[in-house]
Amino acid sequence: MGKAPVVIITGASRGIGGWVARCLGKVGASVTILARSKEDLSAVARDVEAKGGRALTVVGDIRYPEIHEVAVEKTVSDFGQINAIVNNAGIAGPLAPVSAVDPEQWMSNIQTNLLGPFYMARSAIPELRKTEGRIVNVGSGASTLPIPSASAYCASKAALNHFTAVLAQEEPLLTVVAVRPGMVDTDMQAFIRRQGHGVMPPEQVSFYQTMKDEGQLEPPLVPARSIAWLSLHAPREWSGDFLDYDNPQIALPALELLGESA
Ligand SMILES: NC(=O)c1ccc[n+]([C@@H]2O[C@H](COP(=O)([O-])OP(=O)(O)OC[C@H]3O[C@@H](n4cnc5c(N)ncnc54)[C@H](OP(=O)(O)O)[C@@H]3O)[C@@H](O)[C@H]2O)c1
Repeated sequence: MGKAPVVIITGASRGIGGWVARCLGKVGASVTILARSKEDLSAVARDVEAKGGRALTVVGDIRYPEIHEVAVEKTVSDFGQINAIVNNAGIAGPLAPVSAVDPEQWMSNIQTNLLGPFYMARSAIPELRKTEGRIVNVGSGASTLPIPSASAYCASKAALNHFTAVLAQEEPLLTVVAVRPGMVDTDMQAFIRRQGHGVMPPEQVSFYQTMKDEGQLEPPLVPARSIAWLSLHAPREWSGDFLDYDNPQIALPALELLGESA
């Protein structure tokens, strides 16, 4: 058997990213998990280790380049290689129309959702070339669907898809994909339900509320399974593509690998 795969996951202190880390722990992977909340990261690290994986925590803010260098250096020093990056950390806000939105908050969204993945890719590419590794960028349906009062989020996720396509062309040894995780029952959805009132069209807010009330949001484990599988097994011919988490070509082998439960 070869060495355990090594995956860096951003935004793994909770939500989808936390479950990607737990899924990878279940198959004995070594994960570096990065976010700002130290205690939450430590709790996820304990879960990963309880499932049989190894975990390294890096506390930092992905809006700035230095933390990505730190994550790559520590990962190589502790685990010896990098097989994949999951650029998962993201924020939905600010929620306000373009005419009224705070420009600094708009910039902060772009720094998180677009510059973060760019910095991480830039820092990790030399290591990923050695392993012919993968980058999974967690995108959104908002990349193709215009959502009023979410211009920064929509623009950042649209740009992330195209960034994925360009990077795939530039790096033929790598497999670089973006994935839509569906509508997922995490803090991000709670934020939209809370902050959308009065700034989003009322029917938009009630749509999000109804999805929650009717239990139609996906549990984070479901897209996390697909994302974890993609980080280990996405085929080279998909490089550059924007994929759906529930595509049976992804969801079925992911279920087979990781099982129904956490
Ligand atoms: N939930 C949905 O319905 C949905 C739909 C489509 C796409 N997505 C995408 O899925 C991804 C994960 O979303 P989620 O729903 O799991 O969100 P979440 O529960 O709010 O978690 C977001 C994660 O990102 C981290 N993060 C945010 N800003 C950061 C920063 N500046 N530096 C470092 N880490 C940061 C957070 O950690 P700290 O706060 O500890 O730093 C947290 O771990 C995002 O890219 C999101 O756009 C989600």
